[in-house]
Formats: sequence, C-alpha cells, structure tokens
Amino acid sequence: MRILSGIQPSGALHLGNYFGMMKPAIELQSQGEAYYFIADYHSMTSLFDPEARRRYTLEVALDFLACGLDPRRAVFFRQSDVPEVCELTWLLGTVTPMGLLERCHSYKDKIAKGISPNFGLFAYPVLMAADILIYDSNLVPVGQDQKQHVEVTRDIAAKFNDTYGPTFVIPEPLIRAEVAKVPGIDGEKMSKSYGNTIEIFGDENVLRKKIMSIKMDSRTPEEPKPDADRNLAIQLMKLVAPPEEAQRYEERLRAGGLGYAELKRALFGFYWEYFAPARKKRAELAANLDYVEQVLREGAARARAKAREVLDRARRACGLS
Ligand code: TYM
Repeated sequence: MRILSGIQPSGALHLGNYFGMMKPAIELQSQGEAYYFIADYHSMTSLFDPEARRRYTLEVALDFLACGLDPRRAVFFRQSDVPEVCELTWLLGTVTPMGLLERCHSYKDKIAKGISPNFGLFAYPVLMAADILIYDSNLVPVGQDQKQHVEVTRDIAAKFNDTYGPTFVIPEPLIRAEVAKVPGIDGEKMSKSYGNTIEIFGDENVLRKKIMSIKMDSRTPEEPKPDADRNLAIQLMKLVAPPEEAQRYEERLRAGGLGYAELKRALFGFYWEYFAPARKKRAELAANLDYVEQVLREGAARARAKAREVLDRARRACGLS
C-alpha cells in the first residue's frame, strides 16, 4: 500500500495541520510505503515572496522531522524537486472538465475572500491530482478541507482511465472524524487565513497568550455547564492531554466550579508538555541543516524514480512517444 500526503509551506504549522494530517501520516509510515512532501509549487498560488517560500519550506521540513517523520521509512521531499508532476498536470488537465474545477470550494472561498484568481489557483486541484496519481497512491491522509480535492483526483483518474485505458490507481482519502476539523481559538476551523491558529512550535509567551484568549461563553465559574464537551478548551485538551486528565477537567467543568482561566492554564500546560520532545528534536535538527537538506535530496531521488515510471506509463497511454 502506498500512502501519500502533502503540506503547503505557507507559514508556521499549527495544531490543525498536526492532528489533521501530520500525526496520522506519521503513524501510517510503518504501514506501507509512505510519500510525504512539501507542496512548494502549490504555495505559489498564494505566496509571492521567494525568501519566505525558502524559509517556510525549511521550517516545514524541520517541523515534520521533529514530529516524528522517519526518513528511513517515509520518502520525504520537496514537490518541486520532482518536476515530472508538472508534465502530468498538463496531461490530466486535458481530460478535466471545467465544471469540476469551478465547483471546488477552496477555489470559490478564495475568490469570495477577494483573492484575484490566477490560472494556478484554478488549476490547483489538477496539480494535486498529479501529486497523488504520479506515485500510484492508494491512501491520502488529509483533513476535511482537502476531501473534495481527493474526490476530484478520483474523478480525473477515472476520466483518464476511461479515455486512454487503465493507467492510474484510484486513491482513497483517509479522514479521521475526531480531527477532521480542528477548531481554532475562535471556534472556526483552525486556519492560517483566519488568524486563529495555535502553532506547534514557537515562542512560549506568545503561545500562552493565544491559548489564554480561546473564546469562552460568559457564564460564571459556579454555573454547571452541561455542554462541557463542546467547550473549545476541552476539545483541544482532548488532543494533547492524557485521556483521563481531559475527562477529569470535562467533568469538573460540567459540574460547575471550574474557572475558565484555570482551565486554559491547564490546557497550556498539557499542550506545552505534549510537544516538549518534538521541540527538543527540532532544536537539534535546526543545528544540523545539512542533514535536513540531505534527507530532502535523497527523498526527491527516490520519489522521482517512481514518478518517472508512472509518467511514462501515462505518456504511452495517450500516444506520446
Ligand atoms: P494544507 O497545507 O492547507 O494543510 C495540510 C494538511 O493539514 C490539514 N488541516 C487540517 N486538518 C484538520 N483541522 C484543521 N483545522 C486543519 N487545517 C489544515 C489539511 O486538511 C491538510 O491535510 N492542498 C494541500 C496540500 C497538498 C496535498 C497534495 C495534500 C498538495 N498536494 C496531495 C494531499 C495530497 C493543502 O493545501 O494542505
């Protein structure tokens, strides 16, 4: 089984990225052949600062390795180190109906936010389909917001297979219900573009402030809270605290008598502790950037060999030499 996923280098990674994609991906790396990459081509649709792209790419590499991606098990690489994926994007684009792309939520959302659409933004799902199909991927661990893109990938693969004969493996998305949509500090989906993120790594005081500003209702500590399971701090605590501890805080909140400041301080403590080993590993990696670069280069070489094989299969299928 081949498992594949990608992440854009468009800023510091947050708990949504970690629990929605990185953690499941890291857990799956021993279950099959894993291909994980930094989607730097995709970041070009919304980030136009070359220095920032270079910096974020390195940061994502450090984050992923620090969190437990094991380069002896998973093939870890930069998307743009396998330019074959761009050629496959063209091949796939020629069988992709316009309507399929026009229906994509993430495209429509970005336009609604006032981003002026470029061709890259519109073609974004086709490049993503190429990412997935070029490695004969079976399973794609992602958060809920990427589900439609994996469905589009399946449609494009089926259309190509119908048109030119069996060529591509049809992939399945893997979305864990309990972390499909990790909420941010305002209760909306945690997302860089909403400014509501809690980063995995960063300055302790800044992160403490963010956690202390998590949105709560205005009830007094004394009031019992029957909806304690829907409290944002409790939801996040369930991700980072030992289950029995999270349970204990939830029950205390439900019964009444637990103040929100105490609850958030406890959440910060669990969160800080949860990432302590990764923080230590990240500091070590940051002092050894040559190693990180070597991991990405070796990953790219392995990924490229597979990509070449599938691209050649697709070229032959559609009558290119
Ligand atoms: P990106 O970089 O926006 O996000 C990376 C991963 O994090 C997940 N995620 C979340 N999951 C749960 N709750 C949240 N609040 C949350 N926020 C983000 C995303 O669902 C994603 O899985 N287009 C992709 C990158 C990509 C890709 C691919 C992924 C390019 N090619 C091929 C899979 C396969 C993206 O922008 O993810």
